[in-house]
Amino acid sequence: MSGNRNHFSLQSLRLLRTRVLWFLRNYNSIRFNSTLFQDVHGPPVYNTDGLATSNNADFISEPRFAHAYELAKKTKPWPGFTLMWRVYTCCWFAELASGLEGDFVECGVNTGAYARAIIDYTDFESLNKTFHLLDTYSGLDERFVSETEKASGILGYTYRNTYDEVVKTFRGFRVNIVKGAIPETLGKCRPELVCYLSVDMNNTLPEISALEYFWPKIVKKGIVLLDDYGFPGHEEQKKAFDTFAKKYKETIFSMPTGQGLIIKRS
Ligand SMILES: C[S@@+](CC[C@H](N)C(=O)[O-])C[C@H]1O[C@@H](n2cnc3c(N)ncnc32)[C@H](O)[C@@H]1O
Repeated sequence: MSGNRNHFSLQSLRLLRTRVLWFLRNYNSIRFNSTLFQDVHGPPVYNTDGLATSNNADFISEPRFAHAYELAKKTKPWPGFTLMWRVYTCCWFAELASGLEGDFVECGVNTGAYARAIIDYTDFESLNKTFHLLDTYSGLDERFVSETEKASGILGYTYRNTYDEVVKTFRGFRVNIVKGAIPETLGKCRPELVCYLSVDMNNTLPEISALEYFWPKIVKKGIVLLDDYGFPGHEEQKKAFDTFAKKYKETIFSMPTGQGLIIKRS
């Protein structure tokens, strides 16, 4: 027994020596973002849409969310739609807002993936609210895209015509589908109050116009989700959102999903 223990200790010491020497040799090349650290907290359980983490993501398979997400996917935004954490954020905050007065609004709908998930997750039909869905339903309107945004390749985003699909997806639900370019169509959307506003158009001018238009209608503690807030290549939008927030004495919570969140103070 004792011989074995000595043998074990010698082996442990050799291993320790190897590790110390390895550490000293590699010390200078170790970086915070080194792949060496990728599973310090365990293996990644989420690694898509610009976000990799080993933190718990059980919500993905929780039946209520899984069902809502399946419906979002069925709208077919694009093949391999893996925005689970972003859709979860929308669903969770829409539900939080559902207890407040006012309607839901989304500017930038495409196939309606977020809105479809929210309608399911929040049991929207029981809420006595309208979901206003604003989009060109045919992609960005070049007239409102800035030179900086053009230079960063934003016009490369392509969208199919989704109007007929959206009408079909939301048939039977209390929605107000507003077709056309923001800011031109904003006046056609007149909810008295808004408790949830999602802004997701990938370009600055329409997004800021929508924020300015709906802001006075947003109730206290109302939710504003800025889908492109931390998106690489969308720095102009972030700057404009930060200026907007400052103007209204609000702060934007920056999420690891890239989304920004405002909870209206008053
Ligand atoms: C990233 S997609 C929105 C995705 C959507 N939130 C979802 O649930 O999947 C961006 C959308 O913004 C729309 N859009 C871009 N510029 C617009 C503008 N000036 N007015 C209205 N819609 C616009 C595009 O047509 C596109 O459908």
